[in-house]
This record gives sequence, structure tokens and C-alpha cells, in this order.
Amino acid sequence: MTNFITGEELGAFELGKLLDRAAELKAGRRDGVGRDSLAGRSIALVFEKPSTRTRISFDVGVAELGGHGVMLRGDELQLARGESTPDTARVLSRYVDAIVVRSGSHETVAALAEAAEVPVVNGLTPLHHPCQVLADLLTLRERFGDLQGLRLAYVGDGNNVARSLAILGELAGVEVVIAAPAGYQLEESHGAKLTDDPRAAAADADALYTDVWVSMGDEEEAQRRRSDLAPFQLDADLLAAAKDRAIVLHCLPAHPGEEISADVLYGGQSAVWDQAENRLHAQKALLEMLLTDG
Ligand code: CP
Ligand code: NVA
Repeated sequence: MTNFITGEELGAFELGKLLDRAAELKAGRRDGVGRDSLAGRSIALVFEKPSTRTRISFDVGVAELGGHGVMLRGDELQLARGESTPDTARVLSRYVDAIVVRSGSHETVAALAEAAEVPVVNGLTPLHHPCQVLADLLTLRERFGDLQGLRLAYVGDGNNVARSLAILGELAGVEVVIAAPAGYQLEESHGAKLTDDPRAAAADADALYTDVWVSMGDEEEAQRRRSDLAPFQLDADLLAAAKDRAIVLHCLPAHPGEEISADVLYGGQSAVWDQAENRLHAQKALLEMLLTDG
């Protein structure tokens, strides 16, 4: 694997190895496991869009692996004044050992990866959010053991998170069902089951997952989205349709009262805080895999 842009760069064996290592890094965090993995390495962390989890977990993760993170907002680079994406990639490649990038344009991230001579990691585009799903799979594995055969129902907007769940869920052997209204469904299934019936999706599910109705870049459509997606709220009724043992996942940030009810988000079946923490461990394992032989 040289880049991590859509998640399709990973094989099933590598995914298993990455999750094993993430669990090891998590268990050994306070003992400094992995503390020298990125010694002498620098990682550019380019954030053209707001971020709490991705930005902080990568920054802290690089530091915990003994590397140096160079945090850059899009408007701090000459990119904002018209320097081309390929030229930016070529120059960054002379300084750093990897580039993590969040952008409002998937094409920008793809062009950066094309021209870069170092690994590029997608920290979210409007099309994909693969780093998120590494953490989601780690969380499912912690709760249920084996991933194979688990059923995960995603309800709401068929967005970047839904697409990455479909792609990486398929690789992990998780049955992913995506329930979205007409006009909000993925254009391609990527191995997931697609439906417009949230209750049918939730039936027998081991995990219910949702994400915001108004993603970054969708702000102008906010009103229409809130009204179209209202029947797809993850609430206690929907949760009751899932297995008794089902957990609730949300990549965060959440809007309680919109895509998820507050009682479910903060309730006993919610695993969202572990899920958020797992971003750190999964991404540390990803960086090790991209940058070291281990
Ligand atoms: N889940 C996630 O990617 O959160 P941030 O936007 O805060 O990074
Ligand atoms: N779908 C959301 C995810 C945020 C982490 C967005 O793209 O804004």
C-alpha cells in the first residue's frame, strides 16, 4: 500500500494486520509501544476544512510514534494563492515522509497523491472518509470479536462516511446495509445493500450508524436535507428494531435531535466515545504500515 485514499488500496490481510496492530498500540499506549516507529520522520498534516478528531488524533499519533507533525491549514499554503496541487505535492515530498490531507475536493487529494513521491492519506473528502472507518472497524472488533458476519446498518445521508463503510466493510466481511431516501443514496453499492427503509436495515443489526445530514460543503442545502432526512433519525424506536446487543456508532460531530436522538447518542448502547478514541490507534497503525516495514 503506497497511499490511503479510498480504502481500496488495502487488502483483507493487511486490514486485519492493521487492526491487530491498532489494538496492540492501544493496549500499550501508556508503556510507549511504538514510540520510535516514526523517529526522524516528518508528516505534513494539511487541513483545508475544519476538524476536531482527525486533526488532533493525527497530530498526537505522529508525536506518540516519535515523529514530527507539520500542521498546515489550506490558507497557509501558496496553494491558496494559485500554486498548483501537483507542484505542492512535489515540494512537500522533498521535505516530509507522508502527507495527510483533508480537502473539500476529492480531485485535489487524488491529484496530490498522483504527483507526490511520498504516501498520501485521505483525512476526508466529500467522497470518502476511510480513516474514520478503520476506527469504526476497530470499535466493532473490540465489542464483538470477529468482524466476519456482523451486520451494520447505516441510516441517513449516503455520504462520504457511508461510502467508506461500504468499501471497507466489504473488505472486512461486515454486512453493510445503507438506508437512505431517494436522492441521498450511494450511486454505487460498493458491496453494501442499499434500501430506503430504515427499519428493514436495522432489523437484526449488530450496529446502527448515522452521520450528519449536512456535511461540509452541503450548507446551502441544509433546510431541504433536514426535511428530506427527518424520517431517518436514529432514535430509540429504530434501535429497538436492532439486536438487543446492538451498539450505536456516529463518526461525530453529532447534532442531537437531528440525525440522532439525544437519548440514543448518550445512552447505554452508544459506543461513540470509544469510536472517537479509536481514530488515534487506528491511524497510528496506518502510519506505521505506510512508513515502516512492520
Ligand atoms: N469524525 C471526524 O472526522 O471528525 P472531525 O471532522 O472532527 O475530524
Ligand atoms: N459527513 C461529514 C463527516 C464529518 C466527519 C462531513 O463530510 O462533513
